[in-house]
Amino acid sequence: MSKNVVTYQSRNRIGLLLISNPPVNAISPAVITGLQEGLDAFDADREAKALVLYCEGRTFVAGGDIASFESPDFDTRPFSSLLTRLDASPRPVLAALHGTALGGGLELAMACHYRLAPPDTRLGMPEVKLGLLPGSQGTQRLPRLAGVPLALDLISTGRFIFAQDALAGGVIDEIGEGEPAALGIAAAERLIAANAPVRRTSVLKVNADDATIRALAEASDKAAKKPAYPALASIVRAIEAAVKLPFHEGEEVEAREFDRLRLTSTSRALRHLFFAERAVTRIPGMSPEVRSREICSVGIVGAGTMGGGIAMNFANAGIPVTLVESSDQALKRGLSVVRKNYEASAAKGKLTAAQVEKRMALLNGSLDYTSLSGCDLVIEAVFENLQIKKDVCARLGRVCKPGAIIATNTSTLDVNVLADATGRPLDVVGLHFFSPANVMRLLEVVRGANTAEDVLVTAMQIARRIGKVPVVSGVCYGFIGNRMFDPYLREMDYLLLEGAQPQQIDRVIEAFGMAMGPCRVSDLSGVDIGAKVVTEAFEAGQVPSDPTYRAVVRKLFELGRHGQKTGAGYYRYDGRTPVPDPAVAAICADLACEHGIAQRSDITDEEIVQRLMYPLINEGIQILREGIAYRPGDIDVVWTAGYGFPDHRGGPMFMADQIGLVELERTLEHYGRVRGNRFGYWTPSNLLKSLAASGQRISAWTKG
Ligand code: COA
Repeated sequence: MSKNVVTYQSRNRIGLLLISNPPVNAISPAVITGLQEGLDAFDADREAKALVLYCEGRTFVAGGDIASFESPDFDTRPFSSLLTRLDASPRPVLAALHGTALGGGLELAMACHYRLAPPDTRLGMPEVKLGLLPGSQGTQRLPRLAGVPLALDLISTGRFIFAQDALAGGVIDEIGEGEPAALGIAAAERLIAANAPVRRTSVLKVNADDATIRALAEASDKAAKKPAYPALASIVRAIEAAVKLPFHEGEEVEAREFDRLRLTSTSRALRHLFFAERAVTRIPGMSPEVRSREICSVGIVGAGTMGGGIAMNFANAGIPVTLVESSDQALKRGLSVVRKNYEASAAKGKLTAAQVEKRMALLNGSLDYTSLSGCDLVIEAVFENLQIKKDVCARLGRVCKPGAIIATNTSTLDVNVLADATGRPLDVVGLHFFSPANVMRLLEVVRGANTAEDVLVTAMQIARRIGKVPVVSGVCYGFIGNRMFDPYLREMDYLLLEGAQPQQIDRVIEAFGMAMGPCRVSDLSGVDIGAKVVTEAFEAGQVPSDPTYRAVVRKLFELGRHGQKTGAGYYRYDGRTPVPDPAVAAICADLACEHGIAQRSDITDEEIVQRLMYPLINEGIQILREGIAYRPGDIDVVWTAGYGFPDHRGGPMFMADQIGLVELERTLEHYGRVRGNRFGYWTPSNLLKSLAASGQRISAWTKG
């Protein structure tokens, strides 16, 4: 048997087939071979009356080995044949689940004749999240067990269900408490005693009632609206085949759809992000010996929108928070906003009233910095102003206990300067939350020049504990995300000066896949905020002395058009609905005239995408070169988790390889010639040039 990833033994006339393939018992060629050999042993063991299949470690099989999908000769058929063999066994085969039975794991379980699980087991078909469908009979077996509406729901959303719902839906047969092997053996003995006939999923009839037809039609409509995710339409076709065709013909439809999807750029992009999101916590050069500091309580200075949102993250994870404000009024306001947010979740059924109270009870308000002296981690979330933040950091340096971590939530200021202000820079790290802080998944963890290794490790761990995706950034203006956002917004304003309309830019960028176009984003986050950042960057010499740089945002601010909150910005607002406003075109025309910029009417959709995206990508490559980000995948995670970049494009660095680095360099140089390059906006990064010249890919790049 290959490398003992699967072992067979017989106990009291019951065959036991154990999979041990850490970390998640993923199906690999070795597991398939091991299972085949295990079935050979069971076939030869004429004494055994039934077979129990189960897994060692933290979980039942959590799917096919995603890494193996990259192989050019990957084939679902060996695993499918194995499942057909299991299904055909004349003696009962039971799957004893635990942990998570996902994708190929659930397919394996469904090929068995009986499934049982402890109540905390979760089941699901998450392939769609990788741009795929279940490729080993899952689309044929699940509708037979659970009916088409539930099968469609699970396969096309990828959501997980607990054992109780799986039992109610017909996916499993029994819930029991205890170890999987013991549960499986007890169930097998019962089946043997009852002389129960084997129940093969493959021969069950699919219910083709009205609900089935309706569910298929609805899923088909939804899939048509999302052409960037071709798996959705494939899932409908495969499940339709389960309804209309015999099992093995349906299986062929499914296999063809899987083979096609595996090679799509969407699936490649989503698989890249799956691994990139897991790689972010690996810190190059960090010894595994470094131990994290214990975080049992958190302090937050500032109970404004940011501070309150940050506090919610910790309360949600059961960690007590002390919120410090400068006035009783500000504190009460902050806590009442948090309560309102929780109550809104409760109204939507996402929280119970008791959970709201439990979380609120974890939040303590205070007007006194000394109440932070017992906290293990203190985050300052005060107004974004260097002097104010320096003062707060200095106070925290004095008040916080030795060993406590001091974090700054700055988005634009120099973390090293703030770290020095505390007088204990080793304890300081940047934690850049994104707004709304209780919702956005991204957390930039900013490593200062002196941040201690255990502080960085602790920051990454606590981020995961509160459900964030942490990405380490070095110190630079804007860190990874906002630094790359800058050229994107810069070109938005230039295109407006050249005669493009906000609604045109937003339409094109939303069709590209961004969650929201840049003009709408600017209005939502506040033109005043954007203009303030620009003005301060000018003053600090962080942007070139280009008088036309972000001229539109500065003008709109000057005119009191602060965005959605003032009813006008890049658009005019009817409530929250943006309405194209001819006044903006007039403002831009005047500005263009003032700065001697020629307006034109031939701005194409392609130009808009290239003008906004290519400089952003170029900046990302420069960030890699400078070592501000560790890996190309980290940048992709920043943009997909924090800026609404379309996951089906894999992130800006993944997209750079799709464009081709030679083409990217050529296009940047083209715009440099056409638009002028006095301020270096279009100069390709040296790293881009060297990779393009040597025919390498950016996503495979590692710092030498
Ligand atoms: N194939 C290959 N590797 C996998 C995997 C799979 N199907 N599922 C998980 N892993 C790896 C992860 O890459 C990670 O490796 P690392 O520690 O080297 O980074 C490790 O297993 C643990 O996974 P992680 O996600 O960090 O652990 P978790 O406890 O938070 O979550 C799961 C566990 C199983 C719920 C989660 O990993 C998951 O959803 N996996 C994908 C399941 C899936 O899509 N299956 C269908 C595949 S077609």
